[in-house]
Amino acid sequence: MSAAATALTGKSADRPGFWANPIGKKAVMAVTGFVLFGFVIGHMVGNLQVYLGPEKLDAYAEFLQKTKGLLWGARITLLTCVILHVTAAFQLAGLQNKARPQKYVKKTSAGSSYASRTMYWSGPILLAFIIYHLMHFTTGQAHPDFQPGMVYRNVVTGFQSVPASLAYIVAMLMLGTHLYHGIWSMFQSVGINHPKYTPLFKKLAAVMAAVLVGGNVSIPVAVMTGLIR
Ligand code: HEM
Repeated sequence: MSAAATALTGKSADRPGFWANPIGKKAVMAVTGFVLFGFVIGHMVGNLQVYLGPEKLDAYAEFLQKTKGLLWGARITLLTCVILHVTAAFQLAGLQNKARPQKYVKKTSAGSSYASRTMYWSGPILLAFIIYHLMHFTTGQAHPDFQPGMVYRNVVTGFQSVPASLAYIVAMLMLGTHLYHGIWSMFQSVGINHPKYTPLFKKLAAVMAAVLVGGNVSIPVAVMTGLIR
């Protein structure tokens, strides 16, 4: 590449572009993960309105459905973030495998936590959960008695099925482990890494993941125990 082209594109033969660079992919994962995290927190707060009764939850859902700009803006942003996050994850895994063509005889877990070792299977399980979840509560094909627009009713009748509730609880625990590792590795990816503060970030990540899991899991549990009916 000529010096002029290098100056224009920021690339050179020995310096790959942003996306080709593993650090670039990690940065993309951090930013898209942060946006997705913001969504799951906002979505949980919205979901917790189930405790305020059918009028509140259905009115909130109706407001979202009617505000087309917000709804479609959020949908397009989420889809873009999921695609970028998953693509970067697969490509990074591919690069790691290429760098280590011969598999370890025995996989050791030195230096990696349970959560970090689960990233590459909790991710695909979460993706499968999202597809099931959309067919359960948004389009209704996976729901036994789906009524468009009656969100409170759909949530209650949906979670009266024990297998469905258990599937959500398992998926939420998976989300918790994925987020716990994701949040503090995000701090590392953006360069916020210090021996003094890393333990604090880990604790912060654990608290955030626990709040999210607790808030979401409480809903199927409340339906199954008859607290919400
Ligand atoms: C127990 C936990 C959860 C409950 C009770 C729940 C409930 C719901 C309900 C009722 C809807 C349909 C809303 C409507 O039609 O207006 C919905 C949509 C959705 N949920 Fe969840 N959700 C939960 C967890 C999650 C999680 C963990 C994620 C992401 C990882 C997620 C992602 C979505 C998405 C992407 C939509 C579709 C929004 C749209 O485009 O209309 N949900 N959820």
